Amino acid sequence: MKKNGAILLIAGLFLTSLSVQAQNANYKESRVGSYTLPDALTTPDGLQITKKKAWEKIRRPQILQLFQDNEYGVMPDAEIVAEYRVVEESDNALAGKAIRRQVEMTFSGNGQSRTMLVLIYMPKGVKKCPVFVSPNFQGNATTTDDPAVIESQYTTFVRANQASRWSYDRIVSSGYAVATFHYYDIYYDADGKLEESVYPLFGINSEAALRDNTGKAIAAWAWGCSRVLDYLLTLKNIDKKRTIVMGHSRLGKTALWCGAQDQRFAMVISNNSGCSGAALSRRNYGETVPSINRAFPWWFCNKYRSYSQNVSSLPMDQHELLALIAPRPVYVASAQEDRWADPRGEFLALQEAGKVYALYKYDTLRDCSFPAPDEHLWKGQCGYHMRTGIHDVTDFDWQSYIEFANERLK
Ligand code: GCU
Repeated sequence: MKKNGAILLIAGLFLTSLSVQAQNANYKESRVGSYTLPDALTTPDGLQITKKKAWEKIRRPQILQLFQDNEYGVMPDAEIVAEYRVVEESDNALAGKAIRRQVEMTFSGNGQSRTMLVLIYMPKGVKKCPVFVSPNFQGNATTTDDPAVIESQYTTFVRANQASRWSYDRIVSSGYAVATFHYYDIYYDADGKLEESVYPLFGINSEAALRDNTGKAIAAWAWGCSRVLDYLLTLKNIDKKRTIVMGHSRLGKTALWCGAQDQRFAMVISNNSGCSGAALSRRNYGETVPSINRAFPWWFCNKYRSYSQNVSSLPMDQHELLALIAPRPVYVASAQEDRWADPRGEFLALQEAGKVYALYKYDTLRDCSFPAPDEHLWKGQCGYHMRTGIHDVTDFDWQSYIEFANERLK
């Protein structure tokens, strides 16, 4: 068999086994099972956290470490040098509304380097603009029909293939900048691809060099979002106080993990992030921890797999990931037909995270019932909607994020 044929066959088998998993999953609320969530406001030695100071000094670092050690892993410690090269720029993009800039970022360490290509659109005539940082799935040129956009190195997809997911016109017309990169530039999204990632720059060249809590793909993609922010913060026309990290699906998990750690991001958006993103792990509904570990072992640190047999032994749950974003605005968006991502589980996590927002005297979603499809449920710093339709990013989603940010980020 030719190599391409073999790759297609393997990809096909992988997708088939995923859809079998999805079909066999539980979609009945009555079979979710009972569970007790770890309390974000109680320390392991029983101390009750009642003040935001104690949350920030004592409990927040504990929870952050639980996610590092048990789920996403940590990026190894090493000095990485970043160099930026503007490879293309125009002040006449998007029908004259935007400045387009394409920047090649080269990261070096341990005698090796890796390049990421970042596409940025900035509204013209805005002195200080808020910015969305959001990685893409198929390469920069698939996000738009703008012919000047340079194809990302790993892309095999048709130009503009995913343009419907990127409301660039609306974003820029609303006065926001947006920066995107192909996530493969940071970690090629497949099993056994550690060498095609940034990890070799940190001295990690093989799976054997990974500790139980070393990060893998999601940790690396989150790291990539932070590196884009480093660059954006060097630009005079970007508002440092209004930076947003947004991601869809596996990249929604990434956005949450990035925003939880990198507090320079002023707002965090999870679009259909599902299992190991915004959805509670302890609910047996749609995708579960054992199924995600089976299908995507390269996303999480190795330790995460040890919880597949006993999810309730996880020392944390995903509401605490959302709580790490407090007091910054957080938006969780689900899609009605995206049952695999457990919309209700995403909503319940956000409700429960409200406990921590309440320490900051913000109103929360704790007393709200599950909203109707397409209804905006926005209270204090927490925003939620369950859009009608499938697992996707649509203009409705972007419109919601922009309006929410307009109100919350000043
Ligand atoms: C799969 C996976 C999800 C993930 C999604 C995506 O469905 O099971 O966890 O969010 O892919 O990234 O599109």
